[in-house]
Amino acid sequence: MSQDQDIALEEQFAQKRMSKQTFLRLMAYLRPYKRQFVLNLAFTTFATASSLLGPKFIQVGIDRFLTDFTSAEAALSGILMVSVIYLVNLFAGWFLSVAQVKTSIAIGQGAMNDLRKAVFAHIQSLSLNFFDRTRQGRIISRADSDINSLDQVLTWGANQLLSSGLTLLGACAILLQYEWRLCLAVSSVLPILAVATRIFQVRVLRAYRRLVEQGSRVTSALAENVSGVRVVQAFSREDLNLERFREINSEYAERFTEAARIFHVYIPLIPMLSGVGTAIILGYGGHLAMRHEITVGELAAFIIYLGMFFGPIQTMGDLYNSVLSAAASSERIFQLLETRPQVIDLPSAGPLPRIEGRVRFENVSFRYETTPDDKWILHRVSFEILPGQMVALVGSTGSGKTTIASLLARFYEPQSGRILIDGLDLMSTTIGSLRSQIGIVTQENFLFSGSIMENLKFGRPSATDEEVLEAAQMLGTHEMILGLKEGYQTEVSERGGNLSAGERQLISFTRAMVARPRILILDEATSAVDSQTESVIQNALEKLFEKRTSFVIAHRLSTVRYADQILVLKDGEIVESGSHEELLAKKGRYSELHEEFVRQ
Ligand SMILES: Nc1ncnc2c1ncn2[C@@H]1O[C@H](COP(=O)(O)OP(=O)(O)OP(=O)(O)O)[C@@H](O)[C@H]1O
Ligand SMILES: [Mg+2]
Repeated sequence: MSQDQDIALEEQFAQKRMSKQTFLRLMAYLRPYKRQFVLNLAFTTFATASSLLGPKFIQVGIDRFLTDFTSAEAALSGILMVSVIYLVNLFAGWFLSVAQVKTSIAIGQGAMNDLRKAVFAHIQSLSLNFFDRTRQGRIISRADSDINSLDQVLTWGANQLLSSGLTLLGACAILLQYEWRLCLAVSSVLPILAVATRIFQVRVLRAYRRLVEQGSRVTSALAENVSGVRVVQAFSREDLNLERFREINSEYAERFTEAARIFHVYIPLIPMLSGVGTAIILGYGGHLAMRHEITVGELAAFIIYLGMFFGPIQTMGDLYNSVLSAAASSERIFQLLETRPQVIDLPSAGPLPRIEGRVRFENVSFRYETTPDDKWILHRVSFEILPGQMVALVGSTGSGKTTIASLLARFYEPQSGRILIDGLDLMSTTIGSLRSQIGIVTQENFLFSGSIMENLKFGRPSATDEEVLEAAQMLGTHEMILGLKEGYQTEVSERGGNLSAGERQLISFTRAMVARPRILILDEATSAVDSQTESVIQNALEKLFEKRTSFVIAHRLSTVRYADQILVLKDGEIVESGSHEELLAKKGRYSELHEEFVRQ
């Protein structure tokens, strides 16, 4: 997928409001926290009630004790009592708010923790075809920034919205109760607010979309330049890349400024309108008070309630952006969670028994998802391997060798034909039982951060240190590991960057052996080690794999010379097979490859 398509997809999500389905799925994550939710609702309601009570006390204080008093002493003690009650209510409200925040954090963090775990588990379960078509940056941003933006809203925003909503409703109800004519007078500012809010929503949505789109360009530029920093430096592209980044980045700053400007015009508008409302009340309400149609205390309380009415509107406006972005994030997260793995256990599948090692490909044809329809990557490939044989796959670059290995481990499934192990169709067996018996040393040699010992036990965490040492000694990789800074305890940096390519290969190799596979696949597993080390490994393998089937893929033809059977691939088809001598005598594709190899 090209970057622009990718960004278009991101943008499409940024435009989306949350669908009902997504909302329900999100609610499902909140369900386990029902108890906290009920508590939270109760705390919020009481905290809001307490804050709405405040102005009531002020009103009573003014009307009962200040405006129309006969005894100054009684008035003073009365007003003091009211202020004590006011304080008590204030503290109660504060306590309730603390409890409210606590429960809301518990809900948000609990649910997000679960969701993050679900996303991680789901990513691991997806088939390789998904990773072929999805950029790494996008997958990571699902589990990282998307969950964070949802987290922000769930933990803080939702609660604020709830408080604001309740306060708004309460203030509205109280205002209406006081004096309908005052309410009517204040309502004259509401149409302005409604129109401004509508304009704001449309404009901020548009600006926000443009911002998200550009943000995703900044992220991919960053990600690509960090992982490709070696190549950047090797080609002295720093200045040029910086120049490109500068453009993307300043465009981002512009769009950010634009979005922020819209906010900063709208947000101060609310206190301003609130102020206009206050002025209207002061004038008109003062008039009513003088005519004794309302009391002074009521007028004072009304003005405070008016503030309580506009406050939540402002909070909601502030939160609008976060809610929008969280809605888009949850759409993206659940879209990822809905992606089904392509390779799955069929309902009828049973475990594959301990493998003997007979492998059969029957007319296997395969193409990747992105391969054009008129092309096959493997075309009607058939061969049979007997238990304990060492088979070599040779052929030029891109001829389909790695693809055969991937099909055998069922990372992909062929479009037609069958693959059988010990007479059992792979489709009738469970993936776990198959992969636990197959060891692959891939061309990538990916190592994880952690010690070398931990890496070696990756495929069989229950292995003892002694078993690991034994495997390394048999393969002849023990000395190499001991030669490292701290031997088996040497820390491997991310992706194994602190090791040489050959060292990484030897460790990957040993890692595969520690897992005790029944079938071993070596995909260019020794291409980066020197010939002498390679021949030590070969001898060890012959001993270790006397009774087990192994596949060796290698360009260096000296590696495959002693294979029991050599399969020669050309453009996805097997064009020849036989032993080294037989194939040389044929003077076909293999002898061509061999001549090229010897000449080098
Ligand atoms: N994940 C993928 N998605 C799409 N096409 C792929 C994918 N992996 C490989 N291909 C294509 O399939 C063909 C066979 O690739 P494969 O990796 O099997 O070759 P190979 O024989 O292992 O080559 P090499 O010697 O370079 O490792 C190539 O044309 C390649 O471009
Ligand atoms: Mg390959």
